Amino acid sequence: MANSIEVVLSPALLQAHEVHQKTVVIIDILRATSSMCVAFKTGVNKILPVAGLDECLLYREFDFLCAGERDAQKVEGFDLGNSPFEFTNPILAGRNIAFTTTNGTKAIKMARSRGAAHILIGSFLNLTAVFNQLSSMQHDVVLLCAGWKDKVNLEDTLFAGALTSMLRQQFTTECDAALSSALLYEQNRHRLDELVRQSSHARRFKLLEMQTDDVTFCLQQNICTNVPKLKGEYIFAS
Ligand code: MLT
Repeated sequence: MANSIEVVLSPALLQAHEVHQKTVVIIDILRATSSMCVAFKTGVNKILPVAGLDECLLYREFDFLCAGERDAQKVEGFDLGNSPFEFTNPILAGRNIAFTTTNGTKAIKMARSRGAAHILIGSFLNLTAVFNQLSSMQHDVVLLCAGWKDKVNLEDTLFAGALTSMLRQQFTTECDAALSSALLYEQNRHRLDELVRQSSHARRFKLLEMQTDDVTFCLQQNICTNVPKLKGEYIFAS
């Protein structure tokens, strides 16, 4: 019996899906899961996804760096924001990071609280590595899009579609969100940058006059070979 793949386009829809015994891939292309993949490529030791800002700061006591954003802006007093460019800094090698973001870390904690058997971090940056791992695990898969404050977003949907499109020879697509996202990706795979620049989050970045081009960075494919994984409450390189 082939394993199944489901796509959850927003955390608000997770309640309609069973995740026990399944592998959940967390998707937050702009930018939490992209930044996490870069952090581990740089050599970060572990990442603790945290719900709140104050809780994050508490971990300074344990020599953690504090990273994250709210509404796409770096949190006042934090060591790092959430641009993937920040996580390329070699000074981060060996460090532990307490990480809180508007949607991405919340999606991770939701998947954990609902009993997912395995929780992986996916982005375009490690797309093939995630595909290879899911293919070898032969587990039912749920692709959880972090979206924006429970709204669906384009970039996470496109990534879910890319992964579904790659897997659907081996997996059965259990829901129309999987089929729709795969079709959306297949019809636009050669113009992702043009498409994602029209997205709400890319427009949010533009309004904030961000200094770095995080959209181009996060749409690169396969610059990371690791598949970060949640073990207990921490995320490790694999
Ligand atoms: C998110 O949680 O959706 C992202 O971290 C937002 C961002 O980095 O701008």
